[in-house]
Amino acid sequence: MRFRALLAATTALLTPTTTAIDVNLDSPDSIKSAASNIAHGMMTWYIGNQTGQTPGILTPPDVYYWWMAGAMMGNLIDYWYYTGDSSYNAIVTEAMLFQVGPTYDYMPPNQTKTEGNDDQAFWGFAAMSAAEYRFPNPPSDQPQWLALAQGVWNSQQLRWDNEYCNGGLRWQIFTWNNGYDYKNTPSNAGFINLGARLYAYTGNETYSHWASKAWDWLAAQNLITNDQVNPPAWRILDGTYITDNCTTLTPIQWSYNVGLLLNAAAVMWNATGHPMWEERAMGIWGAAIVFFRNKIMLEAACEPAGNCNTDQLSFKAQLSRFLAASTKWMPALSPLVTPYLAASASAAAAQCTGTIAGLVGNACGFEWTTGGRWDGTYGFGQQMDALEIVLTQLIGDAAHPVTAAKGGISKGDPSAGTGGDDGSLTNRVWGPVTMGDKAGAGVLTGVVLIGWLGGTWWMVK
Ligand SMILES: *[C@@H]1O[C@H](CO)[C@@H](O)[C@H](O)[C@H]1NC(C)=O
Ligand SMILES: *[C@@H]1O[C@H](CO)[C@@H](O)[C@H](O)[C@H]1NC(C)=O
Ligand SMILES: *[C@@H]1O[C@H](CO)[C@@H](O)[C@H](O)[C@H]1NC(C)=O
Ligand SMILES: *[C@@H]1O[C@H](CO)[C@@H](O)[C@H](O)[C@H]1NC(C)=O
Ligand SMILES: *[C@@H]1O[C@H](CO)[C@@H](O)[C@H](O)[C@H]1NC(C)=O
Repeated sequence: MRFRALLAATTALLTPTTTAIDVNLDSPDSIKSAASNIAHGMMTWYIGNQTGQTPGILTPPDVYYWWMAGAMMGNLIDYWYYTGDSSYNAIVTEAMLFQVGPTYDYMPPNQTKTEGNDDQAFWGFAAMSAAEYRFPNPPSDQPQWLALAQGVWNSQQLRWDNEYCNGGLRWQIFTWNNGYDYKNTPSNAGFINLGARLYAYTGNETYSHWASKAWDWLAAQNLITNDQVNPPAWRILDGTYITDNCTTLTPIQWSYNVGLLLNAAAVMWNATGHPMWEERAMGIWGAAIVFFRNKIMLEAACEPAGNCNTDQLSFKAQLSRFLAASTKWMPALSPLVTPYLAASASAAAAQCTGTIAGLVGNACGFEWTTGGRWDGTYGFGQQMDALEIVLTQLIGDAAHPVTAAKGGISKGDPSAGTGGDDGSLTNRVWGPVTMGDKAGAGVLTGVVLIGWLGGTWWMVK
């Protein structure tokens, strides 16, 4: 709410210009130049490389939470992977090493009032991408990308909770955070995604075992819907509370959940050759149509009603990122997905015409379905969304992800993150958690969702 009011106040001062970011999808140079332009704008929200600032923290940090900075690191690694432009590599390495936390698994003590499993996973995805894309390794006395991804995964595996609802990860890590009683899809989907990719990279079957097990748990809860019980099949719902033994589902569909699970299935198909995973990837793609209008991506649960919050404004970047990456693991997806990514990339670039301080004529709005008109909003999420969808247009020429057996250069540590960080942190003395802290916790799902139901009844079924 506060965010919308802020936007309305600022938009009045802004003048849209007509200098859209023109992108010719047939020309890699044109795509790279558009991406460079949008990335430059996105960095307006990052001052962590300046003297006296904290590496890995976006600005303002109480609007753009810690998880988003992790998402940005993954996005900047993609930027380098797709364009070859290393302008931001030093920033990425510095931030990703600064935020590792004392147990090298992205559990920094500063974030204990907000960090959920899904938040942590976004930093893990960035580390995993760095390993898969051969992003330059950290100095040898520092933790390495693969080991960091393993650290995140191991710490989450230890949090698997059999006490309620026959398994699953809770949303929150710490008992004192709002949402500790919620088992949400993004946390479980993040664990599955990271596990699938670690399995592909290392061949260690412990990861694939857990990816399958966690998938089965989501399906058993009907968070991945099943035709017989909750048609149509393959919709991905947001989560469920342990307070009623997970009998009530929060029925909202978010685009990033779809990206995470579709990508995991594509990776698992590639690594196992099992047709079951192909069916899962294809099934989810079929249901993902809800996130497109005339092939142009939209955040269906909140964009039409204009009430996406700050987190939700950035989810399209994740659907874009994981759809494109999936076509490398499962080439059969390519002809299906490509027309949607292309239409979305053109539409996204065309509306990046906003002029605000520091962003002359290339501030991107949120709505891509406007026929090239800037919707008058701007922000870190909008800018990252536009960057990631434009980058997908370079996937054809991009290198295939590597594995330890085939081209990988990142060193792992199978026991990273098993040191029980949760316990040691729980024993620390923290200040009381204020309402402000609670409201800010994590990638927003859960409680606040009740308010969104009015606008999304049509997806409830
Ligand atoms: C921080 O990074 C930005 C790029 O986003 C760059 O323009 C700026 O010069 C860097 N500042 C310092 C102090 O390195
Ligand atoms: C934690 O916060 C303190 C105080 O703002 C800051 O000095 C420190 O660099 C932060 N550490 C991390 C890992 O963000
Ligand atoms: C495989 O992964 C598991 C879980 O992290 C770990 O305990 C085990 O040591 C790994 N096995 C090998 C051979 O690396
Ligand atoms: C949840 O399940 C447990 C074990 O079956 C049972 O003891 C408890 O009463 C149930 N709680 C609710 C709210 O239904
Ligand atoms: C599996 O993925 C790798 C990495 O992208 C790719 O090189 C390979 O062709 C894929 N295998 C199949 C059968 O598509």
